[in-house]
Amino acid sequence: MDSSLFLKKSKKKAVFRDKDRLQSGIYGLDPIMEGGFKIHSTNLIGGGAGSGKSIFCMQFLVRGIEDFDEPGLYVSFEEDQKKLLSEFSGFGWNLEKKIRERKLLILNYSPQQVERIVAYGGGTVRDAVESIRAKRIVIDSLTAFTLLHKGELKKRKAMLDLFDRIKSWGCTTLLTQEQEASVDEHLSSPLEFEVDSVILLYYIKQGNVRNRFLEVFKMRDTQHSNKTFPMAITRQKGIIVYSKGKKS
Ligand SMILES: Nc1ncnc2c1ncn2[C@@H]1O[C@H](COP(=O)(O)OP(=O)(O)OP(=O)(O)O)[C@@H](O)[C@H]1O
Ligand SMILES: [Mg+2]
Repeated sequence: MDSSLFLKKSKKKAVFRDKDRLQSGIYGLDPIMEGGFKIHSTNLIGGGAGSGKSIFCMQFLVRGIEDFDEPGLYVSFEEDQKKLLSEFSGFGWNLEKKIRERKLLILNYSPQQVERIVAYGGGTVRDAVESIRAKRIVIDSLTAFTLLHKGELKKRKAMLDLFDRIKSWGCTTLLTQEQEASVDEHLSSPLEFEVDSVILLYYIKQGNVRNRFLEVFKMRDTQHSNKTFPMAITRQKGIIVYSKGKKS
């Protein structure tokens, strides 16, 4: 299926939806991962600065709202709502309207606040999830949270606690992590062992230009593609993965 056909079909509500998959909203991505993310899974989007992690995550929420009427929660550790709205203003996503209609909620927490949320039962996030009946959650980014803890064991314990909380919210979740990525060699971070899937975004210099690529590195219970595909960020559609070749 080429990416334009995929776009048309995804606009027809739930027609191609496998019951245990949730469509990613990223054009061209679902066909290479058996139809989408596993429902209720926790998924990591990794990549370097400017590789497209935040755009990927917001597009996941926007397409969920527009195509499937699934409300979404965006938990930002680094930027407040105003800054995020201005960052995404080029995509015609109408985020303010979605917020007014209570389909989209943006929360801005410091890593310390998240630590407390995890320790004391996650009430505030659960309230937010329930208040909009969220089906999709984004946590962008986990890097600052992991830096709170010294030593691998403590980091891992904090992550596992956070994941338990996330699971209890009953949504499909994307987490982002900053990681310098080389296509040829990949050293998995401890976080990658805990999550259900890992998608890596690359922004690589080839000659005198940088090109974007995407790879599904891991996805449990899924026969995903093992190729690295070209991708683009466009104003019209956001992120497109050229999984069936690139039209010039
Ligand atoms: N409207 C747009 N049209 C095309 N490309 C865009 C547009 N807006 C941003 N970009 C590209 O996306 C990049 C930023 O993507 P994004 O913010 O998702 O990256 P990130 O991986 O979250 O980065 P960071 O690690 O700094 O948070 C920009 O550097 C630019 O190359
Ligand atoms: Mg970002």
